[in-house]
Amino acid sequence: MPYKPGRHFLQIPGPSNVPDRVLRAMDRPVIDHRSAEFAQLGLECLNGIKSVFQTSNPVVVFPSSGTGAWEAAMTNTLNPGDRILAFEIGQFATLWAKMAGNLGFRVDVIPGDWRHGIRMEELAQALARDSGHEIKAVFAVHNETSTGVTTDIPGVRRTLDEAKHPALLMVDTISSLASIDYRHDEWRVDVAIGGSQKGLMLPPGLAFNALSKRALDANRQSKFPKGYFDWGAMLDNNTRGYFPYTPATNLLYGLRESLLIFQEEGLQAIFARHKKLAQATRCAAQHWGLEMVAADPSEYSNTVTALFVPDGFREQDLRALILEKFNMSLGAGLGKVAGRAFRIGHIGDLNELMLGGTLCGVEMGLELAGIPYRAGGVNAALRYLTTQAKAS
Ligand SMILES: Cc1ncc(COP(=O)(O)O)c(C=O)c1O
Repeated sequence: MPYKPGRHFLQIPGPSNVPDRVLRAMDRPVIDHRSAEFAQLGLECLNGIKSVFQTSNPVVVFPSSGTGAWEAAMTNTLNPGDRILAFEIGQFATLWAKMAGNLGFRVDVIPGDWRHGIRMEELAQALARDSGHEIKAVFAVHNETSTGVTTDIPGVRRTLDEAKHPALLMVDTISSLASIDYRHDEWRVDVAIGGSQKGLMLPPGLAFNALSKRALDANRQSKFPKGYFDWGAMLDNNTRGYFPYTPATNLLYGLRESLLIFQEEGLQAIFARHKKLAQATRCAAQHWGLEMVAADPSEYSNTVTALFVPDGFREQDLRALILEKFNMSLGAGLGKVAGRAFRIGHIGDLNELMLGGTLCGVEMGLELAGIPYRAGGVNAALRYLTTQAKAS
């Protein structure tokens, strides 16, 4: 492969760009994970991550990809054969429900069009039908990464409360954590699922479960077989800063650095930055005349924008061209929108000029691919960003 000068643009919606500071923090000799020095690192990470979930309850950290935290959420709180309510809002919601089925849970999946989040009236109807409270958990993907749709989690909470339904609320925050406001305690979520490789600005390899008191109670009652993902041994070891098996030591060095960065920038500023960059992306998309997969503006994602290519074109051809000519990776169309929609990731360690470069790559790619579009989307985005900079 010939040398490609300059930086590769990694504009998929995770894994996201890892700041140099975080890379340097991980570039250290591995230490003994049973040492006092490790316990200090462990405690800093386990306490620090709570602020990102906006919780005072324990957060469990697994050496795993995010998918492991889906499994852990279920196997630690439920019982064999329990019923679960899930919504087919996109690829990740579908995979999570499928995993639940594979584990032997009875999953009621409310079908969806992959362009909307959870519809509260459908949730309310499903809960009303369950007068015997057989449903033990409701799954909600906060930000559906395959479609760029954000579900209203406080709305889900409210709907459960109005129905007086005791099901546990489980929320996937994999592509919202540390980038779209997520309030674990205030929204009374029981188990949150997180991953390291998106808003946390780390490489893949850590998965998280933020817990609630109810989740811990459910854990005590749960008879589901537990192995690698057992919260019990984790929580016990974590009180002293340790893990029941070998942790991903150097990723934890990275996490400690990310947490420091979050303190410096501030969570609210991080959310505002993601909102601004997402809005700029949408300015460009609208100008280009490309249709967003997300159909409802109130559900537009601040971390990923999925755009349909017109009929007769294939998103994979556009992405391949952009990778070849401009050394930029964009997100593939997944599941039901494979071949029809590509995704621009704007999550994690990103600023105006990086986004500007990203949008330039997309606009040049549209031209090269012969896709009909209106030139000037980049300018529309830059105008928006300039106005924002003037106002700040
Ligand atoms: C919303 C969401 N949930 C779950 C996953 C699966 O996470 P992982 O690939 O880390 O196992 C992803 C991955 O992109 C995701 O975006």
